[in-house]
Amino acid sequence: MAAKIKLGILGARRGLSFLNLAKSNEELNFEVKVICDNFPYRLNKVKEEHDIKVTDNFDEMLKFDIDAVVLANYFHQHTPFAIKALAAGKHVLSETTSASTMKECVELCEAVEQSDAIYMLAENYAFSKIGLAMKREYENNTIGETLYAEGEYVHPIEAAVFNSLSIGENHWRNWAPSTYYCTHALAPLMYFTNTIPVSVNALSIARESLLEGTMKRCDPTSVILCRMDNGAVFRLYGWNSPGHSVWYRMHGDKGMFEAPRQYDGGYFGNGQLHISIDSFNNDDKTTDTYGYIPNWPKEFEKAGTSGHGGGDYVVTKIFSDAIKNNKTPEFFDVYKGVAMSAVAILGWKSALAEGTPFSIPDFKDKVARDKYRDDDLSPFPDCPDKPKIQASILGERTPSKEDRENAQKKWDTLK
Ligand SMILES: NC(=O)c1ccc[n+]([C@@H]2O[C@H](COP(=O)([O-])OP(=O)(O)OC[C@H]3O[C@@H](n4cnc5c(N)ncnc54)[C@H](O)[C@@H]3O)[C@@H](O)[C@H]2O)c1
Repeated sequence: MAAKIKLGILGARRGLSFLNLAKSNEELNFEVKVICDNFPYRLNKVKEEHDIKVTDNFDEMLKFDIDAVVLANYFHQHTPFAIKALAAGKHVLSETTSASTMKECVELCEAVEQSDAIYMLAENYAFSKIGLAMKREYENNTIGETLYAEGEYVHPIEAAVFNSLSIGENHWRNWAPSTYYCTHALAPLMYFTNTIPVSVNALSIARESLLEGTMKRCDPTSVILCRMDNGAVFRLYGWNSPGHSVWYRMHGDKGMFEAPRQYDGGYFGNGQLHISIDSFNNDDKTTDTYGYIPNWPKEFEKAGTSGHGGGDYVVTKIFSDAIKNNKTPEFFDVYKGVAMSAVAILGWKSALAEGTPFSIPDFKDKVARDKYRDDDLSPFPDCPDKPKIQASILGERTPSKEDRENAQKKWDTLK
């Protein structure tokens, strides 16, 4: 076995999934050297539960003998840490989202282009057993070229749990506009089809009853339409609406496939991929509607027990192989990463204009992306240097006294 890849992890909540994966899967070939978090409650728990070095300072973490970093810090703050790590020659596996402003999208592309290190977005929802099967079917031309697809990532969270995940009034989960967490719905559709969005329009849905008991300032959910570079249209729905759903469906010019709906627990219900090919597109002229339960491909057969339908394992394995082969994985490189961030950011501008379409630049084109170099509009209040954009279509929500007390009660237990 090749020498272990020495890893530092920023963020001791989601970040611990990568620690646990590395520990229980020798073949991933990672050795976690250090965990960084500046929230004492979380750092102390790491110290209690793991025999591992810790620090509360990212710059200190970069001084450790590490080859790569996982960025599982706050959703809207990945770019500056990715840029620092790349400049220090460390490979980067960044949690979603790649960038939280258009300016950061440009800066991140430049940092990756100037570094010899590998950058990959840790987008995991494409890499379930069903997702990999959809990719195979698409590449086998089972349904023809995509015309239309739907992706849903709907993750309702009850107020008490939400507050325990969103610690502090300015936490990103309290402010992220309803289009911002779109990658879990969009990335699988891009992965199956190798298409990229060229324009976006969105409508946001505000509903006060879904914000009660929390310090949320943002709308719970939105519908996003993306025009793709082959002319297809993808519809995305999510993310804090009631009715948990992780679901994908695609129509091509010969037929369609779809994932099963969730029931009886598990993301993908009975695990059966459904395919429907129109009779006039079949050689034998019979309607061909069938389903099957796919298996894991051999290279990912240990994925089954890992989180998010196995996607956590597959993403980590792809990152490990990329470092071993010194080759950036096509999915999800910086250009696909920032294209999805742009869907979130420009989708929000569209929602504030009640659905006006916005073009997504080709971030590989230095001239096209240059237009966005100074666009650092941000909805997040803990970015005081950036001009603000509202986080709800209704303007700024004022949480009630009860909302504030409810959130504070939970936060007081996490000291
Ligand atoms: N792909 C997935 O399935 C998945 C699942 C959960 C979370 N996530 C992503 O993981 C990221 C983290 O989310 P989370 O759920 O862990 O909650 P979180 O954002 O509250 O946790 C971030 C952690 O990073 C630490 N941190 C932030 N800035 C720091 C800094 N400058 N120095 C040291 N520590 C710092 C915080 O103290 C906190 O413990 C987000 O981007 C989220 O979108 C992805």
